[in-house]
Amino acid sequence: MDQLKRQAAARALEEVRDGMQLGLGTGSTAKHFVELLGERVAAGLKVIGVPTSEATRADAERCGVKLTTLDEIDHLDITVDGADEIDPELNLIKGGGGALLREKIVAAASDRMIVIADDSKWVPTLGKFPLPVEVIPFGLGATRRAIEKAFAECGVSGQMAVRKAKDGHVFVTDGGHWIVDAQLGRIADPASLAKALSAIPGVVEHGLFIGLASSAVLAGGDGIRVIERRKP
Ligand code: A5P
Repeated sequence: MDQLKRQAAARALEEVRDGMQLGLGTGSTAKHFVELLGERVAAGLKVIGVPTSEATRADAERCGVKLTTLDEIDHLDITVDGADEIDPELNLIKGGGGALLREKIVAAASDRMIVIADDSKWVPTLGKFPLPVEVIPFGLGATRRAIEKAFAECGVSGQMAVRKAKDGHVFVTDGGHWIVDAQLGRIADPASLAKALSAIPGVVEHGLFIGLASSAVLAGGDGIRVIERRKP
């Protein structure tokens, strides 16, 4: 599996050109991309990156990739990031690693978002992977009720749980928020659900990435598939 992730990362790296400004994703697949990018930088490639998490910042620094912020620059050429699920419209569930907020800000500031994954992430319909919803701890009970209402309006339902870290304490995102993971099973209309969740005041962000991915690089036993998003 790790080999497949690295192959997908290597294929995405072929799109990177000298002078590009890159969004650097988070997770085990994106980590391969940062490492391979570091090798190219050591060989003379000049790029600058914006990391989507403190973990990726540390990885990029270790690999010698020069970093900046979206305060210093106003757009990115390409963001390369992993995903937890990818559907045929290239809608995504992201946030399994908890970095969904910065990942979405960075993806939205990019001309192109290339999703890299092993092909187990490719699904006909999103929803088997629990949907992460990043929330403000204040008023969480009210926010959860509003989320349930949004689910019902969009024809989905399922158990919700506040994410815990490995040490048993509540998982806290890089932005200081909490994550509620919702086991929805099947999300028939991800775009409507995304809109409904975004309208809830206590919701900071959610893991549905709609219309952000330009292409997906999927590595499987039979080789690599590159899928371009169909224009609406
Ligand atoms: C991080 O918050 C996530 O969005 C990751 O991009 C996603 O969980 C994929 O991670 P892996 O590459 O580790 O599967």
